[in-house]
Amino acid sequence: MPAQRKPGVRPTRRRWLLPSSAGALCATAASVLALGAPDPVRQAQLTTLVRQDCGSCHGMTLGGGLGKPLTPAALADLQVDSIAFIILEGVPGQPMPPWKGLLTAQEAHWIASKLKEGFPE
Ligand code: HEC
Repeated sequence: MPAQRKPGVRPTRRRWLLPSSAGALCATAASVLALGAPDPVRQAQLTTLVRQDCGSCHGMTLGGGLGKPLTPAALADLQVDSIAFIILEGVPGQPMPPWKGLLTAQEAHWIASKLKEGFPE
C-alpha cells in the first residue's frame, strides 16, 4: 500500500483497517480450508445431497447418466481443487449447474475429495 502517497494528509484509522481486515479475511479463508471437513451432521446431509441431487444426473451409483461418471477412476485426471471448482461454478453451456448458492467452498472440497476416494453410501 502506498502509505506515503499523500504526505499532507493525516493518517486515518481507515488507512490501517483496510490491510488488517484483508489479512483477517485471508486468515479466515485459510482456517476454513485447514478445518478440512464439515461436521458429521452436515457430512450426512451432503452425502444424501450427492446421492440424490447429483445422482439424478450422474446416476444413483454415480456411474454416469446425463452427466459423466463421478467414480474415482473417471475423476483420476482431475485435481480435488478442479472438481470443487466445477461443483461450485457448474459447466457453462452444459446441464451441470453451479452449486455455490447451496454449498460452501469447504463443502465442495469435501465432496470433491470424497468423490476421488469413492463416495460414501
Ligand atoms: C442437471 C444435471 C446435473 C446435476 C444435478 C449435476 N450435474 Fe455434474 N455434470 C452434469 C453434466 C451434463 C456434466 C458434463 C459436462 C461436460 O460435458 O463437460 C457434469 C459434469 C460434472 C463434473 C465434471 C466431470 C468430468 O469428468 O469432467 C463433476 C465433477 C460434476 N459434474 C459433479 C457434480 C456434483 C458433485 C453434483 C451435485 C452437487 C452434480 N455434478 C450435479 C450434469 C449435472
